[in-house]
Amino acid sequence: MALTILIAILSLLLTSSSPTSSLNRAHESFMRCFHDRTSSTSSQLIYTPKTAGYNSILNSSIQNNRFLFSPTSKKPALIVTPTAESHVQAAVICSRKHGLHVRARSGGHDYEGMSYISEGRGDDQFIAVDLSNLRSIAVDAEQGTAWVQAGATLGELYYTIAAKNRTTAFSAGTCPTVGVGGHFSGGGIGVLSRKYGLAADSVVDAKVVDVNGRLLNRECMGEDYFWAVRGGGAASFGIVVSFKIKLVAVPPIVTAFNVIRTLKEGATELVGKWQRIGPNLDEDLYVRIDVQAINDSNAKGNRSIEAAFSSLYLGRCKELIAVMERSFPELGFEAKDCNEMSWLESVLYFSGYSGKPTEMLMNRTRQFDISFKAKSDFVEEAVSEEGLEEIWRFLMEARDQPVTLIMEPFGGIMSEISESAIPFPHRKGNLYMIQYIMPWLETDLKTTERHLSWMRKLYDFMTPYVSKNPRAAYVNYKDIDLGMNDEHASYSKGRVWGLKYFKNNFKRLSYVKNKVDPDNFFKNKQSIPPLRLL
Ligand SMILES: Cc1cc2nc3c(=O)[nH]c(=O)nc-3n(C[C@H](O)[C@H](O)[C@H](O)COP(=O)(O)OP(=O)(O)OC[C@H]3O[C@@H](n4cnc5c(N)ncnc54)[C@H](O)[C@@H]3O)c2cc1C
Ligand SMILES: *[C@@H]1O[C@H](CO)[C@@H](O)[C@H](O)[C@H]1NC(C)=O
Ligand SMILES: *[C@@H]1O[C@H](CO)[C@@H](O)[C@H](O)[C@H]1NC(C)=O
Ligand SMILES: *[C@@H]1O[C@H](CO)[C@@H](O)[C@H](O)[C@H]1NC(C)=O
Ligand SMILES: *[C@@H]1O[C@H](CO)[C@@H](O)[C@H](O)[C@H]1NC(C)=O
Ligand SMILES: *[C@@H]1O[C@H](CO)[C@@H](O)[C@H](O)[C@H]1NC(C)=O
Repeated sequence: MALTILIAILSLLLTSSSPTSSLNRAHESFMRCFHDRTSSTSSQLIYTPKTAGYNSILNSSIQNNRFLFSPTSKKPALIVTPTAESHVQAAVICSRKHGLHVRARSGGHDYEGMSYISEGRGDDQFIAVDLSNLRSIAVDAEQGTAWVQAGATLGELYYTIAAKNRTTAFSAGTCPTVGVGGHFSGGGIGVLSRKYGLAADSVVDAKVVDVNGRLLNRECMGEDYFWAVRGGGAASFGIVVSFKIKLVAVPPIVTAFNVIRTLKEGATELVGKWQRIGPNLDEDLYVRIDVQAINDSNAKGNRSIEAAFSSLYLGRCKELIAVMERSFPELGFEAKDCNEMSWLESVLYFSGYSGKPTEMLMNRTRQFDISFKAKSDFVEEAVSEEGLEEIWRFLMEARDQPVTLIMEPFGGIMSEISESAIPFPHRKGNLYMIQYIMPWLETDLKTTERHLSWMRKLYDFMTPYVSKNPRAAYVNYKDIDLGMNDEHASYSKGRVWGLKYFKNNFKRLSYVKNKVDPDNFFKNKQSIPPLRLL
């Protein structure tokens, strides 16, 4: 008798003495709760750091080695891998009940790793809900719609749609391994956006698990909630299980081209001209520019700039030649630059898999084994040729900073959709968006810090050339340098980055947040803070 009491006291002392054991208790309670709500077979749905498979699940969709190898980032206490909607509901209900936070992960492409790690102090232990098993796609070819689950990738979506009807497509991003859940809920821009808008513009219904574990569709959640998850970043509002989307038409044959010009070949004048005509080009013509500093192969030690005009035309080569002659003759585009193909093959073309079988799009394995950092800007006024030369000089001087500036053309329907239609506010008045993207192979902290700090310098340097008040940014190119929530997720702190991502829509997002998740259960360092209506 005395012995059992002693053991009981001892074990009580032991378990309450360390913070980890109280966390373990929360995890155990979570698991019991989850099992009760799902079924006994659901043991394969939860991975703890001690169980086999935890690391391979965690690694499976990490795109950025910066977070794969980071010693400071906190990993999920548990990873849940739902195979049914009810599992997502149980994950939310049970984690809330036991004081744990959740983070949803669809494709794992978050630029700051926010779907699978947390940085810094004060961040509570969290459970990662990995949706990669929820990836069914149901295409209704007659209605021209599809229901797609959040864990599907863009490649799977494009492939499945084209398999039903090769002249049907969807307007979203170019990288096939990006996940639908994060991408659609943050906007989603790609080669068809000047004609058909963002992915989020074509979302017509959604199923979302809210903070109370309810599964809501558009009708149940109401228009404010539905508005918020189409561009406001769903991570602040719940877990999206699926989206219903409106499909778009593409011709049976499209034409892709990639024309490269260096400084000697007139890159500066061409980029200058593109800025003025790009946004007004035919909606069927998409011309993006990827700018990079290169070693001049003709002059040892000298540097140059390479501007790649990477393009898609929704039509045949013959028509494209006429369009280019009319609108951009300076580029010197010729028939031999044309690559005719199906729309699905053009997805491969833009993701660097030109000529490979389209089945590649179903492959979820990550494409790049790199670390990277990215930032974004919007340009409202064309940069002068002198300005462009200043920018080139800055890039050429940085010999060991292999950044690419991706200039994404706006205009077309992007200028016609109202700034408040969905939370993505960057519409009329924007000539183009710049994404600065810096890849590197090393994984040591010193190299990482060197690149991160140069990226901040580049961002400072670009100030005079880009949008002001606010200096806008794209939430799908998440950038923690723009600011973070404090412990209490205050509206005033959040406003710093919130206005950049969402302009006047930030306030409405904060009101919606207060309505649907006033206690800030769904949170990360850049989630929308709740704001009470006065
Ligand atoms: C190689 C690469 C190419 C890219 N190309 C483009 C492009 O062409 N166009 C473009 O617009 N963007 C592009 N992006 C950016 C991309 O759109 C964003 O990173 C997007 O958020 C990724 O979604 P995900 O589901 O893959 O990411 P995740 O890392 O899974 O999620 C991103 C964020 O959304 C949250 N989230 C994810 N799923 C859900 C869900 N079901 N419910 C609620 N919240 C969720 C996460 O918690 C996280 O905060 C690219 C990114 C990479 C790495
Ligand atoms: C996960 O990634 C880390 C870092 O690359 C590596 O050390 C580990 O072996 C990986 N684990 C699995 C199972 O892939
Ligand atoms: C295929 O898609 C096109 C464009 O979306 C549409 O006009 C056509 O009717 C579709 N064909 C079939 C057989 O569904
Ligand atoms: C460019 O030249 C430098 C030497 O000046 C060299 O270190 C670097 O690797 C070269 N870069 C490329 C892409 O060839
Ligand atoms: C290299 O650059 C310098 C300075 O811009 C220039 O004077 C020189 O002519 C260049 N060399 C060649 C071979 O182009
Ligand atoms: C998927 O892609 C990876 C890397 O590109 C490759 O190693 C793997 O074999 C591919 N899997 C299939 C089934 O094609």
